[in-house]
Amino acid sequence: MSENQIREAAHLILDSTSTVALTGAGISTESGIPDFRGPDGLWTKVDPMKFASINAFLSDPKAWWETAAQLAPTLLDAKPNAAHQALAKLEKIGLLQCIITQNIDGLHQRAGSQKVLEVHGNFGNAVCIVCHERVNRRYVERKIKKKQLPPTCPSCGGILKIDAVLFGEALPQEIYRHAIKVVGDCQLMIVVGSSLTVYPVASLPNIATQSGSKLIILNQEPTLLDATADLVIHAKAGDTLTRIFDQVRRTRR
Ligand code: APR
Repeated sequence: MSENQIREAAHLILDSTSTVALTGAGISTESGIPDFRGPDGLWTKVDPMKFASINAFLSDPKAWWETAAQLAPTLLDAKPNAAHQALAKLEKIGLLQCIITQNIDGLHQRAGSQKVLEVHGNFGNAVCIVCHERVNRRYVERKIKKKQLPPTCPSCGGILKIDAVLFGEALPQEIYRHAIKVVGDCQLMIVVGSSLTVYPVASLPNIATQSGSKLIILNQEPTLLDATADLVIHAKAGDTLTRIFDQVRRTRR
């Protein structure tokens, strides 16, 4: 990535009165969590329809939870990286209105970001598929430790599912509606670490640009929407966002 691209990104951020970040799995790879479709992505090893679909879950919840229990430490022990921190700092100085994330790892909040819309849910919590009660992460962790899988609802005994959206499930409607509103009103969208292949979230950059917003795409590999962006940076998120934040602060003084 060039110095010009960093300056251009900082300029777009400083020019905008309403900036939204849309993040995907690529922002968390530097925290040790593999993405899905990158060269070492999870979907190169596991068939998403055999693991991440609601049908796979419902057909064998015990096997599903056993696989999830193996993946859980990678997600639960991860720490926010420089990219999460740069976005949190941008929000703190009033230059980022909101983060819309497809990630379920909770790392934006742990980096200090306040306004985060988790459109694919959160891995930490679980929800009962019968009475829809939400159950916190500690309860589920205890069940995993004791190998009491699938975990069941403390209220009605129904099977618990992670509170994340699986293929075949609808997005949390209220959160997604809020995301569309924020995107329709923004002047700048910054996409970070997403292949932009999973709908409906992949349509958000188009909604933004059709409403007059500028678009920055920061991703290690090309995406299908690169041609529609005002600025495309193919680089790692951590170093790039840190440099953009530093440039914003220097220019603002
Ligand atoms: N910096 C920048 N980009 C990166 C980095 C990095 N350090 N590491 C990986 N990437 C890029 C990859 O090149 C890839 O294009 O991030 C992108 C991640 O894309 P996906 O793996 O497809 O992840 P995402 O777009 O979040 O997937 C969307 O798919 O399976 C579902 O529900 C899951 O929310 C997920 C959705």
